[in-house]
Amino acid sequence: MRILLINGSPKGKRSNSLKLAYSFIKGLENGCTSNKEELSVDELHIASMNIGACKGCFTCWQKTPGRCCINDDMQTVIKKLISADLILWSFPLYYFNVPGMLKNLIDRQLPMSLPFMSSRQDGYGSGSHDARYDMEGKRHVLISTCGFYSADENYDSVLRMF
Ligand SMILES: Cc1cc2nc3c(=O)[nH]c(=O)nc-3n(C[C@H](O)[C@H](O)[C@H](O)COP(=O)(O)O)c2cc1C
Repeated sequence: MRILLINGSPKGKRSNSLKLAYSFIKGLENGCTSNKEELSVDELHIASMNIGACKGCFTCWQKTPGRCCINDDMQTVIKKLISADLILWSFPLYYFNVPGMLKNLIDRQLPMSLPFMSSRQDGYGSGSHDARYDMEGKRHVLISTCGFYSADENYDSVLRMF
């Protein structure tokens, strides 16, 4: 199993959420050892990466399908997103959502979608865009910490987005 750990905390390796993510990985490693399954972990610490904000130009849909006009670390991130089996998103809650630097990464996934509209069957909103690549069977795990007493309703926006 190939795990891609995306640490979206501006605190980098000092992140509390990251500590939980590492514990989760440790648990998976123990499970894989007993199942004799191979496990690899690739870590992306966004705070020390160069990922600019989407310019909204749609070049990645029109002029150069699948390729963004911004030349930065996002090209590497997209390759890793495509090849991972499990994507582990680790981040703090900022104003009921993800920190800006992680939102930049999320927005910059636009080249991974096709420009055509499709209708949704899952009850979330009215429309969608199919994936440009085969993302079938990929699993996503969210690990996050926040400051409020309980997680009740704090994560509504995050869960909708994911
Ligand atoms: C700019 C900012 C916004 C925050 N917004 C929220 C919030 O909306 N709700 C909440 O419960 N905690 C909020 N927090 C607290 C963080 O989510 C909390 O400190 C978190 O555990 C930090 O995780 P990290 O160590 O992984 O970065 C905010 C913190 C900052 C700095």
